[in-house]
Amino acid sequence: MEPHRTGTTVIIPAAGSGIRLGAEIPKAFVHVDGVPMLALSARAFSGCDAVILAAPARHVRDASEILTAAGVDHAVVVAGGSSRAESIEKALAAVPAGTQYVLVHDAARPAVPAAVIDRVIRALHDGAEAVVPVVPVTDSLKQVSGDVVVAHADRSRFARAQTPQGFRLDTLRRAYASARASGRLADATDDVSLAADIGVPVTTVAGDEANVKVTTAADLTSLQRHASAADVRSGIGTDVHAFAADGQLALAGLTWPGVPALAGHSDGDAALHALCDAFLAAAGLGDLGQQFGVDDPEWAGASGLRLLEVTVQMLATAGWQPVSAQVQVIGNRPRFAPRRAEAQQLVSAVVGVDVFFSATTTDGLGFPGRGEGIAATATVLIRRRGAGQVLA
Ligand code: CTP
Ligand code: MG
Repeated sequence: MEPHRTGTTVIIPAAGSGIRLGAEIPKAFVHVDGVPMLALSARAFSGCDAVILAAPARHVRDASEILTAAGVDHAVVVAGGSSRAESIEKALAAVPAGTQYVLVHDAARPAVPAAVIDRVIRALHDGAEAVVPVVPVTDSLKQVSGDVVVAHADRSRFARAQTPQGFRLDTLRRAYASARASGRLADATDDVSLAADIGVPVTTVAGDEANVKVTTAADLTSLQRHASAADVRSGIGTDVHAFAADGQLALAGLTWPGVPALAGHSDGDAALHALCDAFLAAAGLGDLGQQFGVDDPEWAGASGLRLLEVTVQMLATAGWQPVSAQVQVIGNRPRFAPRRAEAQQLVSAVVGVDVFFSATTTDGLGFPGRGEGIAATATVLIRRRGAGQVLA
C-alpha cells in the first residue's frame, strides 16, 4: 500500500488500564466510532512489516481476536508490563529480524493521520536516528509550585510531543537497554527521551492536532463527536398515495380503523415509504422503486415495516447506520397526534434510533386538502459505521 513503509515495524503499547478514563475495560479496548481504539491505532499502520502490540496480560487473546477481525496482518500480541516503557521493552523483544526502523505508537491515539506516520518514516529514511512528531504549545506556559506561579516560560521554546516516535531499531534497543541498566525505565513517558539520554540526537517533524491522545472521558467524547461528524449524510424522501375505495389504512406502521387504505404497491404506507426513500437516497442506494421494483412480486404485499427493515439492512451492508429520522404526514385524515407515540415507538424499534413523526393539513388546499390522499416527507441523517479513518 505505502511502499516506503516496508522495513518498518510498529510497536503499540496498549497494556495500560486507563485509570484516568475510568471505563470498565482497559482503555485500548474502549470503542471509538464503534471500533476498539487498539484496532484503529493498529490499522493506521497498514503497509508496515509487522505490528507488535502489548496488551494487558489477561487480555492478550482478546487483543489478538480484535486485530484479526480488524484485518490487521502480521500482528503479534505480547503481554505488557507494569509501566508503558516496560510494555514496550517486552514488545521490542518480539520485533522480527530484518526490521530496520521501529515506530512506537500509543494505542491511546487512535486518530493518527497517515501523514504524520509518513513524515516520521521519511525522516528516518533521510537518516534521522530518533524522530518525534510535535505540535506547538498554544497556551501560555507557567511554572507553578502549588497554587503559586514561580516562572513564566517562553512557550515558543517548547513543543508537545506525540506518537508515533520513530527510531532505527538498534538505536531504540540501545536506549532501552541503557534505561533498564540504570533504573530509569519505569519512569519514562516517551521514547525519544530515552534515546536522548544515550546521546542520540532527536529530530522533530510536524505532528497534527487531530492526533489526540485519549486520556480522560472528555477526550473520548470530543474524539467521538469529531468521528461522528466525519462522514454523515442526509437524505430526503417523499411519497404520495390516493385513498382507495376500500380496505383499512396502513400508515406509519399502524393500521387505522375507519380510514380507507391508500392505493399503491405493497400496503401503501406513504409515511414509511418516504422514510425508506430518504434512507436509500442518503446512502446513495437509489430509491424504493429501484430496490423493491413495482413489478417485483416478492414485495407486492409487503408491509411498510418490512420494507423499512430491509432498507436498514441494506444500509448496514453498505456500511451506513441511521442517526436520526423525521417523517411529516400531510393530510386531513387520520388524526395522527393521538397515536404519534405508538407510531414512534414501533418504527424507532425497527430503525434502531429515534424516529419522530409530525402531521399537518394543508388548509383545504390541494389533493391532501380535498381529502383525496396522503403525502409524507421524511428526512434522515446517516453515518458511516466504524470506518477506520475516524478523523480523516
Ligand atoms: N501502556 C502500556 N503499559 C502500561 C501502561 C500504559 O502499554 N503498563 C500504554 C497505554 O495502553 C497507552 C499508552 O501506554 O496506550 C500511553 O499510556 P496512558 O495514556 O497513560 O494510558 P494508561 O496508562 O492506560 O492510562 P492511565 O495512566 O490513565 O491509567
Ligand atoms: Mg498511564
